[in-house]
Amino acid sequence: MRQAGRSLPEYRAIRGTGSILDAIRDPELSTEITLQPVRRYGVDAAIFYSDIVVPAYAIGFGVEVVPGVGPVVAEPFAGRADLERLRPYEPDVDAPWVIETVRSVVGALAPLGVPLIGFAGAPFTVASYLLEGRPSRTYARTKALMHEDPVLWAELLDRLADQAIASLTAQVAHGAAAVQLFDSWAGALSAADYERFVLPASRKVLDAVGELGVPRIHFGVGTGELLALMGAAGADVVGVDWRVPLDEARRRVGPGRALQGNLDPALCLASWEVAAAGTRAVLAANAGHPGHVFNLGHGVLPETDPEILERVVALVHAEGRVLPVEAAG
Ligand code: CP3
Repeated sequence: MRQAGRSLPEYRAIRGTGSILDAIRDPELSTEITLQPVRRYGVDAAIFYSDIVVPAYAIGFGVEVVPGVGPVVAEPFAGRADLERLRPYEPDVDAPWVIETVRSVVGALAPLGVPLIGFAGAPFTVASYLLEGRPSRTYARTKALMHEDPVLWAELLDRLADQAIASLTAQVAHGAAAVQLFDSWAGALSAADYERFVLPASRKVLDAVGELGVPRIHFGVGTGELLALMGAAGADVVGVDWRVPLDEARRRVGPGRALQGNLDPALCLASWEVAAAGTRAVLAANAGHPGHVFNLGHGVLPETDPEILERVVALVHAEGRVLPVEAAG
């Protein structure tokens, strides 16, 4: 998730006030930012400091990330002619700084025994930014296009799928040990629309990445009705927000896939007692199942006290139990 900027004073101290995209273009700075939460929280993996709009930005689609708002597109995607603006993404050429950051982070994490999770935006979520031009509550233009012109929609998603594949392939080639495909806003869709208009492009990405032999995590917010489909799209791990308890999520996803989640980040704004009770409830709902990556259900909220997060990690390390799969059910 988006995390570092959300909680750490040491992040705010070195991040500067410019665009996050400038910070991402600076491998030394991005490396340090990636390492900060690992040092402070003792988490078991690092998430690469970048953003889901980086490929679109790097090929010159005209994307900015406005602080406190999110990705904003100067000239949103409006029709077939705009496909021309979405040429293939070549990380080595278009964003060599990304490659350099992956390499330097992987080098710095190796002695700590901590793996790096690479990531990309899923085609639907990236398309929603390119179409809406800014964060949206309704996704009206996005939904209108998929229904009005399914052929153009499929071509748009296919190009974005190829960009995600190029991005993830480069990250894995340079040492990322797992990948996460963020379809953060897929929960805006009905299961039928998701299956028809979104799943094929996400499956293309996850299948291609499957060839690379690293675990694939697939995450969205408000996706309780989509969990089974998001797993079936080709994920090894399905991310779950806080709305569905893990035992029910496991029932929906079915056997053979792990879950990631799902502490409500808002509970980390409350007292330690509240955060601890929420953490224990997540562990209890998982019931010792070995296929569980403990995480928040979405990103850290900006005003979170880092000490609470430190204590959550310590509590999970102390009390998280793994039972043999038969015993865990
Ligand atoms: O260190 C980390 O935080 C991890 C790196 C990371 C960022 N973005 C950096 C970032 C990751 C994994 C992302 C993914 C991302 N970006 C997603 C998918 C995950 C999710 O949270 O659902 C999405 C939807 C985006 C798009 C995006 N970028 C939004 C909506 C925003 C928020 C704007 C705001 O300020 O509230 C961003 C900006 C952003 N990307 C921040 C960070 C740390 C926060 C602001 C900043 O420091 O400029």
